[in-house]
Amino acid sequence: MSPAAGQALSRWGESKGRSPFAGGPVPRYAIGVALILGIETSCDETAAAVVEQGRHIRANVIASQHDLHARYGGVVPEIASRAHLERIGPVIAEALDRADTSFHHIDAVAVGHRPGLIGSLLVGTSAAKAIAWGTSKPLIGIDHVHAHLYGAIMSGPQPPELPAVGLVVSGGHTNLYHLTSPTLIRLLGRTIDDAAGEAFDKAATILQLGYPGGPNLDRAAQRGDPAGHRLPRSLLSDKSLDFSFSGLKTALLYTVRGRPAKRGAGVPAERAAGPLTDQERLNLAAAFQEAVIDVLITKIARAFAACDTDPSPPRTLLVGGGVCANSLLRKRATAWADERQLDLRLPAIDLCIDNGAMI
Ligand code: KG4
Ligand code: ZN
Repeated sequence: MSPAAGQALSRWGESKGRSPFAGGPVPRYAIGVALILGIETSCDETAAAVVEQGRHIRANVIASQHDLHARYGGVVPEIASRAHLERIGPVIAEALDRADTSFHHIDAVAVGHRPGLIGSLLVGTSAAKAIAWGTSKPLIGIDHVHAHLYGAIMSGPQPPELPAVGLVVSGGHTNLYHLTSPTLIRLLGRTIDDAAGEAFDKAATILQLGYPGGPNLDRAAQRGDPAGHRLPRSLLSDKSLDFSFSGLKTALLYTVRGRPAKRGAGVPAERAAGPLTDQERLNLAAAFQEAVIDVLITKIARAFAACDTDPSPPRTLLVGGGVCANSLLRKRATAWADERQLDLRLPAIDLCIDNGAMI
């Protein structure tokens, strides 16, 4: 590793109270070590990427396991970790190959080391440790949820101005953040029950739309009309920046299957989802999606309002995580940010889903 890159690594995250991205020329150290190999295996994507200077993606290889889990209707942890084990070597080799580089030319190895499925994380972290050890390169453990924010920071021709409000909407997390720098991150609010992606996946199961739930529900919603069904939006207390999606999910379940005759586990519902017509299924998908996105946009608005009296109020909105692939969220967030002339950073689809480049 070159001395300049070593210095860059040790100064990474240093902000001295001011974002290294805010205005003026971007200092070299602020955008990262020269060449990083990023490895991601926290759930059901085996991914590796080579990124130059923190922004230039030389290769981003993602091997999805959707086909392996589809028949079970969700991710099976044991199958996921075994598949990671089979794929991690070829995926890393492919990333290096596409980037036209080798282990010996990278400056550091970064790996998503939490949160995630333990068996899946073990595969990526073991591979990263072995590479770092074998090549005497530094090893950097990265928080997967924070990396989704960085996926948004990487998007766009120039680094965004910070501070920013950041929203991560994924299968396991729905978190709102205030960012002063890519590593100075303060949690503003989070879901108190289901994550947005989890709610999409469960709603898709209720509507029998198959796996993967989120993308299937998104596609179904595009052919549905939300007008006939008003599902609840849980906003919690007046200024709360937390989220709750379990009531919405239950409301959808009751709309589809009727209310259970009495309270308690195992009590049968009035009817099965079978009698729904195809069009009703699409309409309910659209109504559900609209309710989730209404809540997300409302909470983004509240987060900006909460930071409005800051000495330096945020003018940037970062959105990351698998759910930011959702077509309605992209449309509504774009319109909302445009209206307020905010700099919205919405990653391209292969930077929304789990990937090595954001790591
Ligand atoms: O970030 P991610 O790839 O993995 C986690 O870190 O969890 O997010 C996966 C989640 C899943 O719940 C998936 O259903 C959801 O993102 N998702 C979507 C869409 N694409 C993926 N949800 C709604 N609409 C989509 N188009
Ligand atoms: Zn993720």
